[in-house]
Amino acid sequence: MPEENRGGLGADNPKHVVVAGATGYLGKFVAHEFKNRGYWVRALTRSVASLEKPGPFTAPAIPPDSIDEIFIGEATKPETLKGLCEGPIDVVFSSIGISRQRDGLTFEQVDYQANRNLIDLCCDSDVRKFVYVSMLGAEQIADLEITKAHERVVNDLERSGLEYAIVRPSGYFSDMGAVLDMAKRGRVLLVGDGTNRFNPIHGADLAAVCVDAAEGDDPVVEAGGPDILSQREVAELAFDVLGKPGKVTVIPLWFAYGLARFIGVLNRQFGDLAKFIVTAGEVDGVGPDRGKITLRSYFEELA
Ligand SMILES: NC(=O)c1ccc[n+]([C@@H]2O[C@H](COP(=O)([O-])OP(=O)(O)OC[C@H]3O[C@@H](n4cnc5c(N)ncnc54)[C@H](OP(=O)(O)O)[C@@H]3O)[C@@H](O)[C@H]2O)c1
Repeated sequence: MPEENRGGLGADNPKHVVVAGATGYLGKFVAHEFKNRGYWVRALTRSVASLEKPGPFTAPAIPPDSIDEIFIGEATKPETLKGLCEGPIDVVFSSIGISRQRDGLTFEQVDYQANRNLIDLCCDSDVRKFVYVSMLGAEQIADLEITKAHERVVNDLERSGLEYAIVRPSGYFSDMGAVLDMAKRGRVLLVGDGTNRFNPIHGADLAAVCVDAAEGDDPVVEAGGPDILSQREVAELAFDVLGKPGKVTVIPLWFAYGLARFIGVLNRQFGDLAKFIVTAGEVDGVGPDRGKITLRSYFEELA
């Protein structure tokens, strides 16, 4: 692509972007996508080692020489973010959120407050635009703690005075990779009857959507992948690609919700995470097709 047509404006006058969440599944693809389009990229991380190693489910490594600057800080601790948006920075992208619990923190503390801290920083600097990754169909699952946290960020962004884009993806291929892992072990567990339909998207395809959102004018961008499948069809596809007969075990919703409540009594955050996983087994989530990579080709790559 000629330099002058690139979103990052080419080598002489690149746009500057901060990528927060760059150690995660989506963030790793996004950092590379911004760089490939000619942006000057600063990655926020609390661990250089996590940045440098590939993530699970084909998320690429980000070696230090593949981006322009690494900023060490913890988005939950604003005092560690001083200077993050200096440069100046044109765009801040964030996919910070809890998808697997590691720190004992809550959705409120990470999915909301960490992103709120970034918004505050942008408002106090010359940042023009904030690109935030929320979720598709939030209105269907508005009672969940993760949804409340994400949508509070959306509300704050709407009132911030910043230009913004909210990306609302359906499921990620990383979660489908977890289904393939179960299939490799011989049995896939499904929550509910497995008939709910969704169109998950590859991290690389979603990264392109996110950078398009940074460059476009749409305040809300919904996105899904090329295949609309039920959970059961995903499991069948995994067994088909592995070339072995499939065993699917269904966990009834009433039991799964009961279990999530019980877990919640022991640990509220784990309970909230469990309730989210159970609810995802119940609702549909089909977004506009913005992906090129099929789930079959992804499973073939992983298998
Ligand atoms: N999976 C899906 O199907 C799906 C669908 C729609 C929306 N989403 C949303 O998309 C976003 C990104 O998902 P993902 O799969 O890329 O998540 P991920 O792989 O778990 O990455 C999450 C990022 O958030 C950071 N983070 C987590 N806890 C933190 C903390 N206490 N302090 C600072 N940073 C912290 C992680 O940093 P560390 O590496 O340092 O922990 C990582 O960079 C999430 O908000 C998720 O809710 C996911």
